Amino acid sequence: MPQPFKEYLGEATSVELVDHRKEWLAGQSSHRRGFDLEELSRLLILGAGAKRLRRMRDRYFRTYASAGALHPNELFVAAASIDGLNAGLYHFHPRDKKLIRLGEGDPRHQLVEATEDDSLLDHPVILAVSGIPWRTAWKYGPRGYRHLWWDAGMIIANLMALADSAGLPSRVLAHFLDERVNHLIGADGQTEMALALVGIGEGTPSSEPQYSPLNLRAAPISSNSFEFPEITAVHRETALSSTDDFRKEAARAGAGEPIDEIDKVIWKRGSTRRFDPTASITQRVLEDVLAYASAPIPCDWTTTTNELFVIANAVDGVEPGAYHWKDQKLQRISRDPGAREAAHFLSLVQALGSDAAAVIFPMADLGSAVETAGPRGYRTAQLEGPIMSGRLYLAAYAAGYGATGLTFYDEEVSKYFQTSREPTLEVAIGTPNY
Ligand SMILES: Cc1cc2nc3c(=O)[nH]c(=O)nc-3n(C[C@H](O)[C@H](O)[C@H](O)COP(=O)(O)O)c2cc1C
Repeated sequence: MPQPFKEYLGEATSVELVDHRKEWLAGQSSHRRGFDLEELSRLLILGAGAKRLRRMRDRYFRTYASAGALHPNELFVAAASIDGLNAGLYHFHPRDKKLIRLGEGDPRHQLVEATEDDSLLDHPVILAVSGIPWRTAWKYGPRGYRHLWWDAGMIIANLMALADSAGLPSRVLAHFLDERVNHLIGADGQTEMALALVGIGEGTPSSEPQYSPLNLRAAPISSNSFEFPEITAVHRETALSSTDDFRKEAARAGAGEPIDEIDKVIWKRGSTRRFDPTASITQRVLEDVLAYASAPIPCDWTTTTNELFVIANAVDGVEPGAYHWKDQKLQRISRDPGAREAAHFLSLVQALGSDAAAVIFPMADLGSAVETAGPRGYRTAQLEGPIMSGRLYLAAYAAGYGATGLTFYDEEVSKYFQTSREPTLEVAIGTPNY
């Protein structure tokens, strides 16, 4: 099993993050002081941090859900100077709550070159999310490629909700020259690849475009590994190697209603392991959760391809069956007294699907995403659904319920909803049975 944490070799210098979890969870967040090292620490420790498992000293869960708990993503911080932190490129170590310095000076100019987007300099901090396929493909094979995006979406949903609650704007970018971003973060594009950038905050003073990498090497995560050609192929096929390939559209503004006490919601989140099959949720709760998840994502693609489809198992006021969340309303596709059995089967025969009050699938028209946006549209569709799913988790927990991501039979899900769209993830919500 590959190492879950990336460790740099040699004389790496690090910066301790400020861990004020007690105050944050008590609702005393730092944001009144602006975007400083403490606020960055809050985003990282709560957004993508590690939680030690009681009774199991060496196992760590994270503050975000992860397919099979294999946590294949890494997070890098490209920062201008902020209070408490010098400009530089850093790697976030979730267990040690540290930033490892990978380069000195302002690395954001490199990201401007990679995106041809000067407005990135307005963000004092740009996070880069990468994926390490071997961490998940050793178990799941080529399907692990999807898991990189699924878990990245979970992290990004957390980061954006936290930023939002601190009054900091944020946006996701999926269009960049792959080689440039990979080069900056020290990824080779095959065993580790950059997936997305997240710009956070606004109003950075201009800085000299000087950046020097420290050329640190990371220890191998595994004594052996092998490449899955399907993963390499799909990633290469969707890479951008010239800015002529960019079909960027203006970032959309606005997000969902902020979640109160987001710090607490994230910290108490943990995937529900057993739902109470006798408990229902109200239509209002379901609709609130769907509205939050489907609110516009501030991002560099406008062709939102994912829409939410729902199997209502036990929703007061809603007949069991298949629904499409469209125009802020639940539109029925079919009544189905056997909704629970269908949800059970579609969720890879897992009782979590049938015992939940509702199961929700973001579904994308992958064909038209690629047709309108080019091959990169495949990646944005695979990232967008999981960001919506991360929000489903947050909204369900904020409403006092539980949730879990689930794996599914792709084509059977499309058939059930009578659509040519394809599921990009599944989240079940309901009342935990413990
Ligand atoms: C994309 C995704 C797919 C998942 N699929 C399943 C699944 O099929 N069955 C299951 O029991 N849990 C599933 N989970 C839940 C994970 O097992 C869980 O997130 C992981 O063990 C980490 O635990 P935590 O969410 O409590 O932090 C999934 C989670 C995600 C994000």
